[in-house]
Amino acid sequence: MSASHPVVAVYPGSFDPITRGHEDIVRRALHVADRLIVAVAHTATQSKSGLFSVDERLDLLREVFAGEDNVEACAFEGLLVEFARTRGVRFVIRGLRAVSDFEYELQMTQMNRELWPDMETIFLAPEVDYSFLSSSLVREVARLGGDIGRFVSPVVAERVRAKLKGE
Ligand code: COA
Repeated sequence: MSASHPVVAVYPGSFDPITRGHEDIVRRALHVADRLIVAVAHTATQSKSGLFSVDERLDLLREVFAGEDNVEACAFEGLLVEFARTRGVRFVIRGLRAVSDFEYELQMTQMNRELWPDMETIFLAPEVDYSFLSSSLVREVARLGGDIGRFVSPVVAERVRAKLKGE
């Protein structure tokens, strides 16, 4: 890291919605990068039926990181490598919660490397308290009336509740 050559990284994902586990990865990423782009993918590799639209996920990300000048939230369509190349970003951050994440992450990393050899993926482990978290589990717990307050920021919990009421 240096003032003249700030290190910029992209943290891509579906973030439907952002959880405290994602927030933890963002904070850790800022130990290795000066600036982080949290990027909501229009096209996730695994097909998922979501809760929030891409714009709503972006709004939540912006609210959660409102006080952090070095975190930018944006969305991208198409390939991650094309988005990163266009933004001139060579570092990708991904979280590894457990060994079960590894095979899928390695496969994506190697495919991305085939597509753009200059891009490097940096894996970060979240706090162990968040290693079981996923957005779909948060959605499921909320749908079934459970308390998601420990797993997401208050603004996210509030928005999930409002969204489910309207469903
Ligand atoms: N805390 C909480 N949950 C976490 C987490 C953490 N630290 N790290 C991962 N997760 C969860 C997510 O909540 C998500 O849970 P869900 O499946 O219940 O929604 C799951 O892990 C994985 O989701 P995510 O990290 O968002 O990855 P993804 O598989 O949805 O998408 C992309 C990964 C967006 C990076 C990939 O699809 C992509 O690059 N897409 C663009 C198109 C492209 O380039 N394709 C070719 C890729 S080789």
